[in-house]
Amino acid sequence: MSRRDHAALRQTMRIRFDFNNAMASSIGDAHGITEAALASLSERVARGHSEIARRRQAGELDWMKLPSSLNVASEIEAYVDSIKGRFDNFVVLGIGGSALGNIALSTALNPPYYNLLSPEQRGGRPRLFVLDNVDPDQFSGFLRVVDPRRTLFNVITKSGTTAETMAQYLIVRDMLVKALGDSHRDHIVTTTDAKSGELRKIIEVEEYRTFVIPGTVGGRFSVLSPVGLISAAITGIDIQELLAGAAFGDEMTSEPDLRRNPAYANAAIHYLGYEAGRTLSVMMPYSQALKDVADWYCQLWAESLGKRVDLDGRIVNVGPTPIKALGVTDQHSQVQLYAEGRFDKIVNFIAVDRFHHDVVIPPGYPPSPGVNYLGGHTLNELMDVERQGTAVALSDTGRPSVTFHLPAVNAFTVGQLMFILETQTAMTGELLHINAFDQPGVEAGKIAAYALMGRSGYEKRAAEISASRKSSPAYII
Ligand code: PA5
Repeated sequence: MSRRDHAALRQTMRIRFDFNNAMASSIGDAHGITEAALASLSERVARGHSEIARRRQAGELDWMKLPSSLNVASEIEAYVDSIKGRFDNFVVLGIGGSALGNIALSTALNPPYYNLLSPEQRGGRPRLFVLDNVDPDQFSGFLRVVDPRRTLFNVITKSGTTAETMAQYLIVRDMLVKALGDSHRDHIVTTTDAKSGELRKIIEVEEYRTFVIPGTVGGRFSVLSPVGLISAAITGIDIQELLAGAAFGDEMTSEPDLRRNPAYANAAIHYLGYEAGRTLSVMMPYSQALKDVADWYCQLWAESLGKRVDLDGRIVNVGPTPIKALGVTDQHSQVQLYAEGRFDKIVNFIAVDRFHHDVVIPPGYPPSPGVNYLGGHTLNELMDVERQGTAVALSDTGRPSVTFHLPAVNAFTVGQLMFILETQTAMTGELLHINAFDQPGVEAGKIAAYALMGRSGYEKRAAEISASRKSSPAYII
C-alpha cells in the first residue's frame, strides 16, 4: 500500500475513545469519575508525559520508535519474498512477549480459520503456528503432524536464554538435523538481541538468518519489532500499514492534555478507579478478530503494572488486574458478575463500526413466530445491540466502562490500537509511580527454572529453593 493511501486511512480509520460511561455525569457519583477528580490529575499526567518524552529521547523506550522503523519492515518483506513458496508451515517458538503479539496480529488480521484455508486461498503462504508452551503432549503431538521438510521455525527470544524457548529450540534442531542433515539451518530463522544471550552465541556458530530486537524494546512492547512482524508478513499481513497505523497512534497520544489523548485519558480513568478500589480492568472486544488482542493486552498490563516496589524503592505491591472477555460470548459467562458483583471493575469495550461481511438473518420460522423478529436483521446489528445493551446494563447499575471505537479491523487500526494501549500502560506506570518496563517477578521465575533444571551458576538458588520447600502430609488429601 502506498504512503498516499496511508494518508487517507488517517482520515477514515481514526479510533475514537468514548469515556462517557466512566464519568459521574453518566453513572453517578458513587463509582463515576468527577470532573474535579479528572482535573486534579492533569498536572501529574503532564509530568508523566514529560518523563516519557525524556526517556524516549534518551533511547530508553525504543518501542516508541518502532512505528518508524520502515527499513526493518522492508528487510522483513525482502526476506519473506526470498523464501516464497518454500514452506507450508511457519512455526513461532517463543513465550510471553515473544508470542502473544504474533497470535494477536494473526487472529486480528488474517482471515478466520486461516490455517484451514487451502494453499491457494492462503495465496501460497504458510500456515502459522505459535507454540508458547512446553506441554510435552502438545509439543510432541505438534511435531508428529508437521513435515520438517516444509516447515520453517522462528525462534524468538529477547534474552536468548528463556528455558522454555531454548528447550523447544533444542528439540526442534535435533529433529531437523535427523530429518534434513546439513540443510536443517535453512529451516530456522531467529529473532533475538543483537549481542547478548545463549541464542546469539549459537547463531554465531550455526549462522542462522537473524533479525534483531532493539536493545530497549522489552518483550511485551515488541510486537511491532521483528518479533511480531515476521510471522505477520509471512502470512500476508500488510506490515507497512500496521506500522503506519501505529505511527498514527503515536501522533494521537503525543498530546499532553489527557482530555485530548485517549491513552492518557484511559490511564487516568484506570488510576482514579484503582485508587477507589476498582482494581480489575476488563478488556472486552466485540469482535472475534480482536479476541487475542485482549490476551496481548492482559500481558502488557499485568507484567508492566504489577510491581512490588515503586520508583523510590518503597514496597507498594501495586497493580490493576487485567481480565480478558469476549463480546458477545462472555455476556453468557462473565457479564453477570460485571453487572451485579463487586464494584471493582472497569470494562474496556472495543466496538467495530464495520465488519468485513454483512450476514443477513433469514426471514423467521413460521411455526415459531417468537423468532421472527430476528428475520431481516443482520448478525452485525445483533453484535452491536448486544454491546450497547451490555454497556447500558453496566451504566444503569453505576458500573464504569469505556469504549474504543474502531471504524474497522485492519492493519492500520490494529497498529493504532496497540500503540495507544502501550502508551496507556506507560502513563499508568507513571501515575502509579512504578517502573512499567521491568519484570523482576518474571525473572525470578526464570531463575528458579534455571536452578531447578541444574543450570550451572544457579546452584545456590537451587539449594535455597529446596531448603524452603515445606510439605506436610497433613495438608495433602
Ligand atoms: O514481556 C516480557 O519481558 C516477557 O513476557 C518476555 O517476553 C518473556 O518472558 C519471554 O522472554 P524472552 O523473549 O527473553 O524469551
